[in-house]
Amino acid sequence: MTAKSLVDLAADLTAATAPDRLVLAPTVDAGLAEFRPETHSLPSFFMWTLGCQMNVSDSEEMAGQLLAAGCTRAASMESADLVVINTCAVREHAEAKVIGRQGLLADLKRARPGMRVVLTGCGVRESEREGLAKRFRAVDMFLRPDEEPELALRLGLVSAQAPIGLQTVSTAATTVLGGRPVSAADRLGASRASALAENRVARSSTISAWLPIVYGCDKTCTYCIVPFSRGPERSRPFDDIVTEARELAAAGFRELTLLGQNVNSYGHDLPAEERFAHIETERSAGRKLDLRSRPDLAELLCAIDGIRGADGGPAIPRLRFITSHPWDLSDRLIDAMASCDSVAEHLHLPIQSGDDATLQRMGRQYTVAHYKERLGRIREAVPGIAISTDVIVGFCGETEEQFQATLAALDDIRYDTVFAAAYSPRPGTPALHLADDVPPAVKKRRLNELLARQAQIGLDRNREWLGHDVEVLVERVMPPRRPIDPDDPDSGDESESEIPPLAGTAGQGSVALSGRTRHNKLVHVAGDPSLVGHAARVHIDHAGPFALRGRLVKAADEPDVLA
Ligand code: SAM
Ligand code: SF4
Ligand code: F3S
Repeated sequence: MTAKSLVDLAADLTAATAPDRLVLAPTVDAGLAEFRPETHSLPSFFMWTLGCQMNVSDSEEMAGQLLAAGCTRAASMESADLVVINTCAVREHAEAKVIGRQGLLADLKRARPGMRVVLTGCGVRESEREGLAKRFRAVDMFLRPDEEPELALRLGLVSAQAPIGLQTVSTAATTVLGGRPVSAADRLGASRASALAENRVARSSTISAWLPIVYGCDKTCTYCIVPFSRGPERSRPFDDIVTEARELAAAGFRELTLLGQNVNSYGHDLPAEERFAHIETERSAGRKLDLRSRPDLAELLCAIDGIRGADGGPAIPRLRFITSHPWDLSDRLIDAMASCDSVAEHLHLPIQSGDDATLQRMGRQYTVAHYKERLGRIREAVPGIAISTDVIVGFCGETEEQFQATLAALDDIRYDTVFAAAYSPRPGTPALHLADDVPPAVKKRRLNELLARQAQIGLDRNREWLGHDVEVLVERVMPPRRPIDPDDPDSGDESESEIPPLAGTAGQGSVALSGRTRHNKLVHVAGDPSLVGHAARVHIDHAGPFALRGRLVKAADEPDVLA
């Protein structure tokens, strides 16, 4: 019986026995009145996710755990009993952003002493664990990325009645890289499998799904902290991935993105199997590996593409994968991209620099010529494919001439989108042995110059779509425009600020919608909110450097083609 019902009962008794038992009533009421039952005993949580899509996917799993344990979502950090911060460490700024919120979190905790803060993600590195409490002073518990499956367990939220998988998660081990302890990714595949079996993945969309296929990174990029945060590459079993894709198809997802720091390397660490005997790929760059008879990304794309709907078409119409690395960008993969109907006509292929000597200092293990050769093959196999990339400017020792070579590569390759950043030295990475000798003002100038150059190239690429009808997978109703916060570099980003979406131009009740084409172009269109989750045909009549705008034509039925 709950305390509330006891109070009610006492009130009922008082009423029923009056007037001769009145003398007892105040004693009963006073005793019960002291008891203030909590409205809920399990915490409401707020998940603050920074960084890349892998973090978004990890947060979906953590939220799924908490919801399965009986917790509820809080609308804001301020109203939450539990704040989970899923950090990114790729650049200093990403970590500084979280450090900057420690004061606010400490104030919230003082006002509400029961509040707890957990910090996880790439900011939690084993080798620096001791310093974490000093840097993140409002945090109660730190979890490495590979410890995230233990979140609910370590918070004591998993009861004896919990599903078996939640009770049996064991403490993650560490692996050693360059003599230093780092995250181990060994168990993540198995914990994903049990999370899926127990319906503990709280997907952030009902249209587009993230599907991790390989955890960690084995590469040698000297500037990058990811291998030290996430440990070595570990591929999920082939059949687990195909099963997850099949379930997503059955649940009506329209788009699937296979995730990994290096999806092109998928499968090299899995055992050889007879059924994959036809795979004889040799690595085209980097360390030699025996890839024979092991599943690869090409095989995975074909298997997922092979999941068909009642009409014979791909059950999931759009299949994407990020991030690619030129090391394992095989001809088999290129052929699969060309032959699988569902594989979207977009590839994200980081180049990082357009200069061979800089690439060598970066430990990227390819040359600009090798990169361009791969890109040429892809463009030949998938005509009109959109290409995006990552670039770092101002890396150690980058001369003006070397920076100009990167600009020349942009002019030559004509990317659709470039994600660029100034080099930021990261603790424990090999590049710390090189002098960070490009002054901050020069890095900033180079970054601005590169972004301006790309804005023109992006605009030219987007103008090629003017007058065309494209298939847009409508993802969301656009929120009201946020004012630009000068202290928040993420506020007023390109997708929000460039082209004001038009509401009300497609008839009564229409709102501002946005979605993406198969070529990953962001499109703004006015239409009925019921279009969210559906493909729509849109006629493009405006192009900006980062997005397109159009008017609704009809439901989609034909592929996008650039004349
Ligand atoms: N695995 C991907 C690849 O092979 O390029 C990229 C993953 S990384 C998390 C995302 C991007 O962050 C990189 O492509 C790189 O451009 C950028 N990045 C990584 N470390 C950086 C650093 N120390 N300073 C600036 N940018 C960095
Ligand atoms: Fe970092 Fe290089 Fe691995 Fe990408 S491939 S995550 S840039 S080390
Ligand atoms: Fe950041 Fe980690 Fe992703 S460092 S970019 S969240 S893999």
